[in-house]
Amino acid sequence: TANKIRVICGDILDFVDDPAVAGDKAYRYFEQGALVIQDGKVADLGFERDILPSLALAYPDQLIDTKRYTGRLIIPGMIDTHIHLPQTEMIGAYGEQLLTWLTEYAFPTEKKFADEDYARQVSQRFIDELLRNGTTSALVFGTVHPQSVNAFFSEAQQRKLRMIAGKVMMDRNCPEDLSDCPESSYQDSKALIEKWHNVDRLSYAVTPRFAPTSSPEQLAKCTQLLEEYPDVYLHTHLSENKDECAWVKELFPESEDYLGVYEDAGLVRRRSVFAHSIHLAERELDCLAKTQASVSHCSTSNLFLGSGLFNLKACEKRGIHVGMGTDVGAGTSFSMLQTGNEAYKIQQLQGEKFSAFKGLYLATLGGARALDLEGTIGNFNTGCEADFVVLDYQATPFLSFRLKEAKTLHERLFAIMMLGDDRCIEATYILGEKAYKRDGQPQFKPT
Ligand code: GUN
Ligand code: ZN
Repeated sequence: TANKIRVICGDILDFVDDPAVAGDKAYRYFEQGALVIQDGKVADLGFERDILPSLALAYPDQLIDTKRYTGRLIIPGMIDTHIHLPQTEMIGAYGEQLLTWLTEYAFPTEKKFADEDYARQVSQRFIDELLRNGTTSALVFGTVHPQSVNAFFSEAQQRKLRMIAGKVMMDRNCPEDLSDCPESSYQDSKALIEKWHNVDRLSYAVTPRFAPTSSPEQLAKCTQLLEEYPDVYLHTHLSENKDECAWVKELFPESEDYLGVYEDAGLVRRRSVFAHSIHLAERELDCLAKTQASVSHCSTSNLFLGSGLFNLKACEKRGIHVGMGTDVGAGTSFSMLQTGNEAYKIQQLQGEKFSAFKGLYLATLGGARALDLEGTIGNFNTGCEADFVVLDYQATPFLSFRLKEAKTLHERLFAIMMLGDDRCIEATYILGEKAYKRDGQPQFKPT
């Protein structure tokens, strides 16, 4: 009922700031904590011993439903800031770097989305997989076909999810049957914005694939859309692969650098999200900072395609908004835990540290900030939407064995980031309601 109060008890962790900025003050941890939810939103957060005794007084005449997750870790729903719906079924395609991988694997698979029935089936599977992995919001690439976005948004809407997506715009350097043109891409995107943007929890992202597949005329159309609809997102790729960067230089000789192509078109601003952003010059980094644009760091993808090592430190130094993305299907996992695992290794290769606090921050509040959604999702501040995940440290016999040796909170979190994945997601809640529950055999019980 509308009046019901839900209380979730367990060990609760969330972030109020970036650990790179605020250190230990960046996170809140309530061992035996309680999360109070009213009408799908966070009403209170604290220790169980402080919250429970005053509940009946705080909410007289209301049904109070308490659910206990003893020894489990409860964190905000994770946020994937860059993922491709149509690449779900070709994840793990062998042997190529970006440009060949696109023509050999990605484009042929994306052609199937001309069929809306097929798009609907994949959308269901895709959303199931996000929830199984504790991801409750994502910024999603569709295909060039508007029906890919219709199928995805319909499914997300039914499940009451906060999601952002857009139809790919590309009018050159791609197969004929995946190509639109400046005018049709403008009209199709506009119609999708009118139909879906700000409907329930859905938002639209204007989605030129990347500079090589858009003519200057098409990029101008993107800008026109952003001007007509100032609160839509801009979602594209930037500086992922060296050959790609050289190609952009050839295609846009007048622009100063890769980001300059988007900048010259008027596409770099708050709510612009640039996936990868690996091979950037100082000028480009400064421009991202100055414009408050965001970057999605896609660790498993960067290693899988051999794209390069993301310079997180350079972004931190400038206060650039960074989130993490799985970039499925160039990324090799839907799991934001596994994405954190690989992000750690990318920093290791550069002699930098990447704590579990940093990883979980990026997977939650960092992602929310990158999507300009702080205050709506990403942590358990009062009034935030109550999307959250229940993590099981004992998900497998081996995890349980390993965790016995983890004494501090950080050791436990780090172990689960390195070793954990969908097996550790015991439940996923959307607006305070259970949307996924791990089934099958009960988890390992430590003796
Ligand atoms: N750059 C342009 N398109 C793509 C894509 O589909 N995946 C990745 N990883 N990079 C891209
Ligand atoms: Zn991508």
